[in-house]
Amino acid sequence: MSILLEGISKAFGSKVVLDRIDLEVREGETVAVIGGSGVGKSVLLKTIVGLLEPDAGRVVVDDQVVTELSREHLYELRRRVGYVFQFAALFDSMTVKDNLAMGLRRIAGMDAEERAHRTEEALRLVEMEGYEGQLPGQLSGGQRKRVGLARAVATRPKYLLYDEPTTGLDPVTTSVIDRLILKMDEELGVTSVVVTHDMTSAYRVADRIAMLYDGRIRFTGTPAEIQAADDPIVRGFVEGRPELMQESTA
Ligand SMILES: Nc1ncnc2c1ncn2[C@@H]1O[C@H](COP(=O)(O)OP(=O)(O)O)[C@@H](O)[C@H]1O
Ligand SMILES: [Mg+2]
Repeated sequence: MSILLEGISKAFGSKVVLDRIDLEVREGETVAVIGGSGVGKSVLLKTIVGLLEPDAGRVVVDDQVVTELSREHLYELRRRVGYVFQFAALFDSMTVKDNLAMGLRRIAGMDAEERAHRTEEALRLVEMEGYEGQLPGQLSGGQRKRVGLARAVATRPKYLLYDEPTTGLDPVTTSVIDRLILKMDEELGVTSVVVTHDMTSAYRVADRIAMLYDGRIRFTGTPAEIQAADDPIVRGFVEGRPELMQESTA
């Protein structure tokens, strides 16, 4: 059970964001997708769950061709694919517990008792038990990210997609989130895609790293392989040395 992107292209007006992207995320693997701001990382993630339709190419998740699914099957697929949004996207007027239960309400045949059980289980996984009755506004940035993660895992997905899970967090909180990402892999056996521009995080959580640049996958390899890459564009990004990335004329 894997995620497969074949020749994915996406443009907005005349702006080509993704240009024939091929990417495979194998069962049980965590792939980090790295790249600068605005390079198309979120667009890529959204095409995986059918939130955005590519102009060309095929997305296959769990042997299902996402790009050809009916609306009904798409909803069903999204239950197997947890999506952790960049800004947690919690409802401010709802308690932590109700935020989690919301996502579960859409699952047909699940009663209130099962929802409560799943909610508890998910909060325990992200080490946020005892916060059920809090409002998002009472939580720190890192805690909100953890609730966003709990909401994604409450449906017991086989896949987890993370959009910038550590952006805006301090280094200590970042390491907490990275540890939770690894914990989800171990305890749930999920297959994951982590979109990030934080190389420390990418090295910590990823089996493989794919770098998105100028619409294309510029590099794919293990953390050790990317650290040894010769390509100045890759090295410039990975080492935080824009002067190496001459093509970008930044
Ligand atoms: N719905 C949309 N309509 C128009 N342009 C969009 C839309 N979504 C993304 N874009 C553009 O696509 C590019 C890539 O965006 P995004 O994937 O969000 O970048 P990032 O790598 O920072 O996540 C940006 O130039 C953005 O403005
Ligand atoms: Mg983004």
